[in-house]
Amino acid sequence: MAIPTDGYVRIFDTTLRDGEQSPGATMTSAEKLEVARALSRLGVDAIEAGFPAASADDLAAVRSIAESVGVRPVEGRPSAEPPIICGLARASRPDIDRAWEAVKGAKYPRIHTFLATSELHMKHKLRMTPAEVLERVKDMVAHAKSLCDDVEFSPEDAGRSEPAFLHQVLAEAIRSGATTLNIPDTVGYTTPDEFGALIRGIRENVPGVENVIISVHCHDDLGLATANSLAGILAGARQAEVTINGIGERAGNTSLEEVVMALATRSAKFGLRTGIDATQLVRVSRLVSAATGMVVPPNKAIVGANAFAHESGIHQDGMLKHQATYEIMRPESIGLLQTRLVLGKHSGRAALAARLVELGYSFDDAALHRIFTRFKTLADRRKSVADADLEALVHDDASPQDELWALDGLQVGCGTHGMPTATVRLRGPDGNLHVQASVGTGPVDAAYKAIDALVKAPAELLEFSVRSVTEGIDALGEVTVRVRALSEREPLSPQHEVASAPVFHGHGAETDIIVASANAYLKALNRLLVARGRARPASERMAVASAPTRPAQEQRT
Ligand code: KIV
Ligand code: ZN
Repeated sequence: MAIPTDGYVRIFDTTLRDGEQSPGATMTSAEKLEVARALSRLGVDAIEAGFPAASADDLAAVRSIAESVGVRPVEGRPSAEPPIICGLARASRPDIDRAWEAVKGAKYPRIHTFLATSELHMKHKLRMTPAEVLERVKDMVAHAKSLCDDVEFSPEDAGRSEPAFLHQVLAEAIRSGATTLNIPDTVGYTTPDEFGALIRGIRENVPGVENVIISVHCHDDLGLATANSLAGILAGARQAEVTINGIGERAGNTSLEEVVMALATRSAKFGLRTGIDATQLVRVSRLVSAATGMVVPPNKAIVGANAFAHESGIHQDGMLKHQATYEIMRPESIGLLQTRLVLGKHSGRAALAARLVELGYSFDDAALHRIFTRFKTLADRRKSVADADLEALVHDDASPQDELWALDGLQVGCGTHGMPTATVRLRGPDGNLHVQASVGTGPVDAAYKAIDALVKAPAELLEFSVRSVTEGIDALGEVTVRVRALSEREPLSPQHEVASAPVFHGHGAETDIIVASANAYLKALNRLLVARGRARPASERMAVASAPTRPAQEQRT
């Protein structure tokens, strides 16, 4: 593919692979496809769609992204070409073969293979000698190249690798056919000056490096991921591996929006550009947050709720006199103020469908019917419905066959005196209605206790957050919960036992936040039950007939 070379930084998005490795961020295949479409529309050059060797589900999800998003540009994509679709593989033949199997349907497929090069990893994790590592890199990059023209190689833990050995390994990868060398600071250990020097050292010491693209992949354990990535770019890297909202292993990855907006806002310093349509950043950030359950902290750079809020009197005074006094970017440049109050209670189904298409969503008739019904209820209560409301309704939509347990009715009694009580009526996997009343410390606690009594999926509530989608007392409330599975008589699958207890998320949006809370909790419990393999939603039973469901944290890299 002809990606511009002059002053262009490729954006390689790994939200669906490294990002999905955040505890509890597991997405369904449908959610992954929706995120991939949004990333394509955003203008990313490459999508790392998953780790196909992890499970049959992962392979199927990557394949479906390759065969749809990877074939032709989605509507609204700034480029006339679809993105590269990449699959991750350990440096082993079976992994590489599965990655190829998954991505080969894309117009621009890529295999990304990796092997650790730090002494610590080679000795204690791989139990391989440096000579064995060198040999394996040579063989496996060559094997990947025999399948796919576009091969990326990563020396895992490059940030802590001995430079001379790292250079040797990278030279071998180039000789064997690698076209991109990705340099990961796997544990987020380096500082910007060190990481910049690492990239410079590679450019100066690795034969053949002038013919390949150097990429940076920085983790955020010390909060330095963006700074390190930019230092690597200043030193000559021309691909940045990033995730939306910076989600990823442990403290996360470099956040896409930070790198893109740093390059754009400080263009005089960097003299570099990307192919990203920044006006879509807020929308994609919200989509990923809803799909993964990873709530964006209010003070998160670029996309946090407070990123453009001015609280102190001095700042407000300055802003009124001149916007540039306290803002280095315009909110509209990231799509923040583009909310258009276009729809109201007189708007019909066609107007809703047209607006959803403009916002970049795809849906079938059944989904449109469900969203329209909820839109009407909302529009009856409010004068107008904003784009952010529509987005919240779409993110919250679930087809009935994806829900094992669904809320059919909820009533609460609470106040300053007495005992907060909730009565819930759920439709169960057996198709019948089940009713339970419970008392709790508050109405949400009471509702959760009643749900627990019916669903019987032992779980610990780790996180509960409520956010107002728009302003005003009649706003939709968005609730996100994360729960940790507790063991019960029926054990988790053997793969689970080696991992820490899995975490699952759920998301709900309603004007009534108690109802939103109940829905969010049920969605998290449904995911938990599916991961336990106790019951599978009908849609997935049909989609991946004989494939075992991958538990949340199985086989991570
Ligand atoms: O952080 C890391 O080292 C990785 C590699 C697989 C690129 O994610
Ligand atoms: Zn990583």
